[in-house]
Parts: sequence; C-alpha cells; structure tokens
Amino acid sequence: MYDFKIEAADKATLYRDLALALGGLIGDETDSVANMANAAGLIWQSLPDLNWVGFYRNIGGELVLGPFQGRPACIRIPFGAGVCGVAAETRQVQRVEDVHAFPGHIACDSASNSEIVLPLVGADGDLLGVLDLDSPKPGRFDDEDEAGLRKVAEILASLL
Ligand code: SME
Repeated sequence: MYDFKIEAADKATLYRDLALALGGLIGDETDSVANMANAAGLIWQSLPDLNWVGFYRNIGGELVLGPFQGRPACIRIPFGAGVCGVAAETRQVQRVEDVHAFPGHIACDSASNSEIVLPLVGADGDLLGVLDLDSPKPGRFDDEDEAGLRKVAEILASLL
C-alpha cells in the first residue's frame, strides 16, 4: 500500500513534499503509463481545488489523452489548439486565470475556470507531452503553484 498523505501549512512545503513523494512513488519504475497514472493520483489527492489533473502525450505531433483523474476528457488535441496545444507548440508553461477568456480554450469540463499546463521536455529535448491541471476556482494557480509544478514537471520529464 502506498500511503502518501501530504498536508502542509504552506505551499513551498507542500510542493517540496509532493516532489519527494513523487520521486519515491516512481522509484526505479520505467513504465511511463504506470508512472503517469500514479503521478496523476498523487497530485489529485495532494492539491486542493482541482477538478482535473492529467497528461496529454505527444504522439506523432498530436496530443493524445493519457492517465488522469477527473471527468472523461477530450481525447485528441492538435498542437496550437486550446491551452494544452499552445503549451505543446510553444513549450512554455500556460497559466490561465480565467479559461473563458483564453482564445480557443477547449472546455472538456464545464466546471473548469482556471488552468495551468506544463510542457514535459525530455533530456534529449523532445516534447514528451504536457501536464494539465484544471480548477473550478478562478485564478487558482499563483506564482508558488507554478514554481512547485515546474519542479514536478521537471521530475516527471526525467522519469517518464
Ligand atoms: N482545457 C484544455 C483541454 C484539456 S481539458 O481541460 C482536460 C485546453 O484548452 O487545452
């Protein structure tokens, strides 16, 4: 049984503990589906106010749904489309305070009001996919969340 219970008073500690737990959970496992599935589960149970967290994988230049927690989501997203597609195309983190104001936002779950998408770039410079977190709270993700999640994305990109 894996019993990672992360409760921290401040975000810096929360994300430090999350990164440590993620490293421990993945260990020397090399199966990327298993690792993405456990990562989605860990993030889902550790961060408050999420309605979706998961992965889109870069399959031949198209984003294809990977392991996630939350409601069933769009399966294929072209590069450049929506928040995930822009993150994939630009390889830049997309932090969106109000998804309804983001041109081309793809509404997979009408409960989403804010979103952050982090590109996962492997050691060889290839884009492996993106990590997507959605929240019902407008402006859910602040600078500290972004910094913590960048670290999480870095760990994932080196282990997937
Ligand atoms: N809203 C995303 C699509 C993915 S879902 O939120 C799971 C987007 O615009 O890329």
